[in-house]
Amino acid sequence: MRDTGLKRKRGVLALIFRRRSIRVFGDVKPNRRVLELVVEAGQRAPCVYQSYTVINITSPQLRERIYELTEDNIVRNAPILFLLCIDLRRTKLLFDLLSPRHVLSKSPSPIESLEAIFEAGLFAENLILASEALGYSSVILDWPIRLGKTLQALMEIPAGVIPLFFICMGPPGESPPPRPRLPLDMVLMDNKYVEPDMRRLAKYLDELSEKLAAEGYLLKYVGVRSTYKEYIADKISYDKEVEKLESEVSEYLRRNGLAI
Ligand SMILES: Cc1cc2nc3c(=O)[nH]c(=O)nc-3n(C[C@H](O)[C@H](O)[C@H](O)COP(=O)(O)O)c2cc1C
Repeated sequence: MRDTGLKRKRGVLALIFRRRSIRVFGDVKPNRRVLELVVEAGQRAPCVYQSYTVINITSPQLRERIYELTEDNIVRNAPILFLLCIDLRRTKLLFDLLSPRHVLSKSPSPIESLEAIFEAGLFAENLILASEALGYSSVILDWPIRLGKTLQALMEIPAGVIPLFFICMGPPGESPPPRPRLPLDMVLMDNKYVEPDMRRLAKYLDELSEKLAAEGYLLKYVGVRSTYKEYIADKISYDKEVEKLESEVSEYLRRNGLAI
């Protein structure tokens, strides 16, 4: 009995350590029962009010329109394209049943907002691991954060339901190596916070860049020859355009009930 339990635990650990983001898929579509099962597994994650909804995008026209907006081949090729949304609309309706005046009645609540984002993350990771257990792989895409307003209009998603991420899923069509992570002692601390050592952080960035270069990561997925460090430095650079986008996203989120 104990042995079986242990094996099961090892099985879950093996799954966690085996998982990679997969961006090239085979074309066999998981069937409806698989979809339902992975979403149900997502729902088994710890939760507060379950302020999330996942929309399975099956319409070829809608997919094509999303591809036009993103020019991301993964959106076009993934057998399954889920849109994960923060759903404070349903939570507000739920609260309406409980109390005439509640934390979501008027202005966005920072506490509910953080909890909603956190539980959507837990939901997503459970869904992703359940997919792995069934032999399917996945990748998260962050387009919806920038395209929230456009996707809401395109998909007739009501106010209060905020597109967060795409989760693309299907049988793996590639087998990449594990991608580096920060050293464990930079993440796990005992009793007090330990300030990160800048030299070790710099070393981590170098190692990350080297490992991803050895994989051919940027060439394969983005078609560029720069180092990963250069690529990320460019991605995070801050200018007037980014400032404008950020204030638009922030205002959009507030209008939809998220206090960010
Ligand atoms: C919040 C979030 C957003 C992400 N957005 C993207 C994305 O837009 N495009 C992409 O190719 N991968 C995206 N990823 C996947 C990461 O690039 C990937 O998890 C990371 O490089 C580590 O690789 P691994 O998952 O194979 O360990 C995202 C992951 C997270 C958690």
